[in-house]
Amino acid sequence: MGDVILKMTGIEKSFPGVHALSQAQLEVRAGEVMALVGENGAGKSTLMKVLTGIYPKDDGKIEFFGKEIELRSPKDAQDLGICIVHQELNLMQHLTVAENIFIGREPVIGPFVNQREQNRMTTELLESLNIDLNPKRVVKTLSVAKQQMVEIAKALSFNNTKLLIFDEPSAVLTDTEIDDLFRFINQLKADGLGIIYISHRMDELKRISDRITVMRDGQYVDTLVTANTDIDEVVRLMVGRVIYEEPRTHSMVAPDAPTVLEVEHLNSLDVKDVSFHLKKGEILGFAGLVGAGRTETMRLICGADPKDSGTIRVNGKEVRIKTPEDAVRNGIGYLSEDRKRYGLCIGRSITENTVLTDLGKVSKGLFVNDRKADRISQDYIDKIKTKTPSTRTLVRSLSGGNQQKIVISKWLFKNCDILIFDEPTRGIDVGAKSEIYHLMTELAKEGKSIIMISSELPELLRLSDRIMVMCEGKVTGELDIAEASQEGIMRFATDRNVGVSKNAG
Ligand SMILES: Nc1ncnc2c1ncn2[C@@H]1O[C@H](COP(=O)(O)OP(=O)(O)OP(=O)(O)O)[C@@H](O)[C@H]1O
Ligand SMILES: [Mg+2]
Repeated sequence: MGDVILKMTGIEKSFPGVHALSQAQLEVRAGEVMALVGENGAGKSTLMKVLTGIYPKDDGKIEFFGKEIELRSPKDAQDLGICIVHQELNLMQHLTVAENIFIGREPVIGPFVNQREQNRMTTELLESLNIDLNPKRVVKTLSVAKQQMVEIAKALSFNNTKLLIFDEPSAVLTDTEIDDLFRFINQLKADGLGIIYISHRMDELKRISDRITVMRDGQYVDTLVTANTDIDEVVRLMVGRVIYEEPRTHSMVAPDAPTVLEVEHLNSLDVKDVSFHLKKGEILGFAGLVGAGRTETMRLICGADPKDSGTIRVNGKEVRIKTPEDAVRNGIGYLSEDRKRYGLCIGRSITENTVLTDLGKVSKGLFVNDRKADRISQDYIDKIKTKTPSTRTLVRSLSGGNQQKIVISKWLFKNCDILIFDEPTRGIDVGAKSEIYHLMTELAKEGKSIIMISSELPELLRLSDRIMVMCEGKVTGELDIAEASQEGIMRFATDRNVGVSKNAG
């Protein structure tokens, strides 16, 4: 490992009502991956925003290559070679991939942007990173995972980069994409870059990091050398207790449980003849790679996209679902994977977001009972341990993982009989994940039926009674939990018989 290139010490940062960083510190060497971990709201992203000139620090010292630096804007950081891939996607949705990557530094001919050159440069960049994407695609047509890849490509396109920060890159990527990402990271390491890597996936720490810095409540806790560290110890430092998640060994669904949802021969552009059923009290996992058609299938079921053909039966009766409202009326709730686009009104308070799906429950006549609404949202805050100063806090100012918890509260409040969770624990810390698993198991016990899409196989194996596997828009496998394993799922998820490249979609 090389010399220390970054040293942050005594960093302080407060927001109204929140002391986000207090005596935070971090050190990075050239050619190392420093993992930064901590619970949701621990201050990781805030520390990175201080380091990239987005937030001014209240106090403390940042030294870069031995010299103290002052960052007044993101541009200052960029000029010094400090780049970041943000946790929340920051792309311009209406621009193309190439336009997003080179925004503000486009190649020009005279007064005009040289589109052709820009597309060529983008193709070259994407190829060097092994990303299969058309530079002319408009960003809003891409999946969250592909958008994340564009962000990564963009960060890597600044060729003076000396320190690169990844704020939870893997939260939206699947296993094969993570393998690709880790390959870039190792390459960058070999080139002598310093890398800061934030993640809630503990299994990644051993694979990618050289050292691990733990933060808790805005403070520095400890820095550990990964090779000499037990991950359970890291978790204990993060959340203050040991967490042990046992995989499920058998289905908990009653043998005579009625079927609540039947989907038959569902078809659309991305969904090919998908059929499956869901029983009362069952947790049905959906596994697959990105682009496998899992989200697309669920969007058809909940009326977010129109289907070409297929039937949907709820409690044995055929239903016509043309809009999300129709779905909710039939007791089907869909918790989206993309909270920014479909899940939350980030300019509104926690309470407003929580009760918005069912105002009737907290209103008398035309009037919303604010006290009641606040009390309900506080209940959910306590139940899944959302970190926030109050129920009136705007969702925008919550940390990433805590925003996700609001999406979950919102759908729990809605009280649908069939709940479809699309990547529910994305970006959520290990402690809170375990709370959510608990909650979902309880819901199933109470007779709710749950469909869960997840890209984390251990999570599917921990929670599901049965697992459906999709690949290229088709169902390629169905496994009872008693016979399911990671290897078994992966075999169906990469089904060679289907024969289309894994990068599609
Ligand atoms: N712009 C802001 N305004 C007000 N409070 C903020 C703002 N940004 C962050 N906070 C608060 O600062 C604290 C630290 O948030 P931060 O986003 O740094 O957490 P994090 O460690 O990145 O969490 P996560 O793992 O959920 O992403 C949280 O309590 C958060 O609500
Ligand atoms: Mg964060």
